[in-house]
Amino acid sequence: MTEAELYTLHKGVYMPSYLHTPKSLEYYEEFTFRPDDIIIVTYPKSGTTWMQEIVPLIMSGGDPASVETLPNWERVPWLEETHACNFNLEQRPSPRMFTTHFQYNMMPPSFFEVKPKVIYVMRNPKDVFTSSFHYYGTASFLVNPGPQIKFLHKFLDGKVMFGSWFDHVKSWLNAEDKECILHISYEEMIMDLKDSLARIAQFLQKSLDAEVTEKIADRCLFKNMKQNKMSNYSAVPREFMDQTKSEFLRKGIAGDWKNQLTVAEAEYFESVYKNKMKDVKYKFVWDFK
Ligand code: A3P
Repeated sequence: MTEAELYTLHKGVYMPSYLHTPKSLEYYEEFTFRPDDIIIVTYPKSGTTWMQEIVPLIMSGGDPASVETLPNWERVPWLEETHACNFNLEQRPSPRMFTTHFQYNMMPPSFFEVKPKVIYVMRNPKDVFTSSFHYYGTASFLVNPGPQIKFLHKFLDGKVMFGSWFDHVKSWLNAEDKECILHISYEEMIMDLKDSLARIAQFLQKSLDAEVTEKIADRCLFKNMKQNKMSNYSAVPREFMDQTKSEFLRKGIAGDWKNQLTVAEAEYFESVYKNKMKDVKYKFVWDFK
């Protein structure tokens, strides 16, 4: 099926219509935040699910029940998703934990008034592309990626769900009220998960001792997290997400783009990246040489 059949254009970006109905988008637009809300913000395939494991564990002081009781989409729900309005989010005790894939400029009015805490996870866009390429082939609510080169153009042009990676990252890097936002990358988490946990905990004003940090880091290792039925999407019927084609927790590494992109594709990617990111001062872990 085509973009026109499967996607809704919302605030200028494509969103899968199956997951985001007019009712759910209106619910989000009118949502009232609290100052101590914690929002995980990502461009899709940047480490959302990983952070949905990390934040509840940190906030609960390492209690396994925090990630074993509810599936990740109910535990740290996406505010733009169809089910959000059924989760009684208004009744949840503080601090509430949410997720969103929205770009900064798409956030609802209450967000700018209340200024809740944001954890923004970024990932090397070549790996985001690679992860997306595999994922789009598994989900019936997304447009099939087709040949890799075609999907590469769509990705770089932002004709994919939640729009352009470049616009997304730039919007959150240029966001106001920087003290309310923690920017962290997937690659930093891969390189030193314990240090990343410490940074996240400090931002959330939670103190973690060495033993608890160790316990959380172990649970959040790719191979261990993959076993968590509440996080590996095994509860989603195959007709929506066919994990026999590619698992949701697929490889969990940095740099898999090297196995995916041809030399010519990587060079083209870099040329587009350099042009689109030329005004960005932020020092990314992956900065292309
Ligand atoms: P790959 O497809 O490259 O393996 P999101 O949750 O934003 O959709 O991102 C999914 C990506 O994060 C997938 O990347 C997935 O494997 C990876 N991921 C999820 N949990 C992880 C973990 N504990 N450690 C490393 N990577 C993880």
